[in-house]
Amino acid sequence: MKKALVAVDGSEYSKYAVEYTSDLLDKEKWEVIVLHVIPSLEEISIESVAPPSLVEALFNELRENAKRIVGDAANVFKEKGFKVSTLIKEGHVGKTIVETAKELDVDLVAMGTRGMSGIKALILGSVARYVANHAHCPVLVVRKKERVKR
Ligand SMILES: Nc1ncnc2c1ncn2[C@@H]1O[C@H](COP(=O)(O)OP(=O)(O)OP(=O)(O)O)[C@@H](O)[C@H]1O
Ligand SMILES: [Mg+2]
Repeated sequence: MKKALVAVDGSEYSKYAVEYTSDLLDKEKWEVIVLHVIPSLEEISIESVAPPSLVEALFNELRENAKRIVGDAANVFKEKGFKVSTLIKEGHVGKTIVETAKELDVDLVAMGTRGMSGIKALILGSVARYVANHAHCPVLVVRKKERVKR
């Protein structure tokens, strides 16, 4: 079986990536790993200004969110009959996606062009750009609600 790593952040763009990838890939040939990365403290950069209790509350919420985000994406693949697993990691988002792709020796990474920030002026969000530039394998970047032509 080949492996596809699908990186999700819960945004509409990452949902498009999930929809498209689950239509494109052959479930007999591909297994799917859904990954969400919780950004590290340094990335959110609130460490120095917020009280520890607030930081802890925020992280608990991010962890709960993460479960929902990977669960929802995994369900789309499950419903289409794919073998699917989920992963939640913490760290630098782009680096963690690239490292996980390498560690699991995946054959494809799939993601959206943009994510939660979704600034329309940007062609590619920073995570999409980082992964497209650094992944060891091909990266499928889904721009919008696109359908696989049959
Ligand atoms: N924390 C994350 N974990 C897993 N995948 C992610 C994460 N953040 C983004 N992605 C993936 O990367 C795609 C592009 O999102 P990206 O974060 O690059 O854009 P953005 O949020 O619009 O811009 P930026 O984060 O640079 O402000 C998303 O559609 C999703 O597939
Ligand atoms: Mg983002």
